[in-house]
Amino acid sequence: MTAELACISERCGAKFAITDVLYECPRCGSLLEAVYDAPTQSAAELKAIWRTRRCSNDPLDQSGVWRYREFIPFLDDYSHAVTLREGCTPLLDARQAAGYGGLDRLTFKHQGFNPTGSFKDNGMTCGAAQAVRLGMTRVACVSTGNTSASMAAYAAAAGLQPVIFIPHGNIAFGKLAQALEYGAKTIQVEANFDQILALVRGLADRLGIYLLNSINPFRIEGQKTIMAEMLDQRDWRAPDWVVLPGGNLGNTSAFGKGLRELKALGLIDRLPRLAVIQAEGSAPFYDLWRSVDRSHLKPVEHPKTLATAIKIGDPVSWPKALLEVTESNGVVEKVSEQEIADAKAIIGRCGIGCEPASAATLAGIRKLTVAGLIRSEDDVVAVLTGNLLKDPNYIHEYHTGVLQPMGGTRIVANFGNPPVVMANDPEQITAFLTT
Ligand code: F0G
Repeated sequence: MTAELACISERCGAKFAITDVLYECPRCGSLLEAVYDAPTQSAAELKAIWRTRRCSNDPLDQSGVWRYREFIPFLDDYSHAVTLREGCTPLLDARQAAGYGGLDRLTFKHQGFNPTGSFKDNGMTCGAAQAVRLGMTRVACVSTGNTSASMAAYAAAAGLQPVIFIPHGNIAFGKLAQALEYGAKTIQVEANFDQILALVRGLADRLGIYLLNSINPFRIEGQKTIMAEMLDQRDWRAPDWVVLPGGNLGNTSAFGKGLRELKALGLIDRLPRLAVIQAEGSAPFYDLWRSVDRSHLKPVEHPKTLATAIKIGDPVSWPKALLEVTESNGVVEKVSEQEIADAKAIIGRCGIGCEPASAATLAGIRKLTVAGLIRSEDDVVAVLTGNLLKDPNYIHEYHTGVLQPMGGTRIVANFGNPPVVMANDPEQITAFLTT
């Protein structure tokens, strides 16, 4: 099996060794991706191998990423793999959310069930494995939350030193807490996500630190398995739509690549359409999608949204994401802060729950069914990318009616459920609970 790094630009087409430490093409500056020879097994054999591994006690087979290793064959020695049993996340039917979104039926693929609480674990297990293979000792990322928690955990598990850069005052506390607990050197920088990413790309080269943001092609490989696992759980029936939030657009790139490759391998017979949902105040990819000239993305200089996971004005993976959304005959939509907050409360009412960026999916579905683009009878899988506990302050503020975006209007708690303060008085409490 040959694995290589390839430039995504068709005009350039340069190829590099899989062990080169590269985040972009040294010839033309485009993004890179991992490419492989076709596996020796047939589609039916792969399905059988992957299904059998679900009953195995081997740590790699128990991982919802490494179980699909023939689909991401970039390692030549699996002793480099580090697993916290990532993936293995459920498909959950949500009747109330379906009704709210204008659908007969809706399934959530909930990546918040991952070890550190987000889909980042699917990618990070691969990024950390590659770092170990390359003999790196330190790894770094810029993050508004989930990436840092995930990288810190996988680096710690692999015996690497994690270094985290975060926009000062712009990280969810639950996530910062995880990074500190996992032993990451944590640097809060007075700049926004996009500015810090540019800074860290320079520092990584200078200091020989391996960069684990989503421009790292091995993270994308790991995130591809979210689609493989989803389809495996559906006995390889492709849905009509896969809906996901878009920030830096690594996940969009990964899902698109994964689905195309699964189709090429004969594991599915058609491509689901990708629907990428952005927050209104941070929607450069939506603007690009709507523009006639799609050759350049115009960054949003000061992105604004309470969904910090998708508060990204200059998404690095936009060229890959554009290709994938186009290829899948997909769509890009944007939703308001109010729409995100209400959709999030509805997902909570289903007993499922998620962090704000994830809820952009349901808000987007509601908009797209009203527009007639998604039909009520369509088979839709929405990917909830992170756990409800990422952002408890947001939740408390929503339910108590004080949630307010910076410089924006206060969110109306349309589905608010505030706690009630009462005296230590059984009569009063009884009266409250019987009315
Ligand atoms: N959802 C969640 C929960 C995230 O944490 C992120 C990214 C996204 C969606 C966006 O995914 O970038 O692949 O389009 N979080 C980054 C972080 C920014 O630092 O944790 P994308």
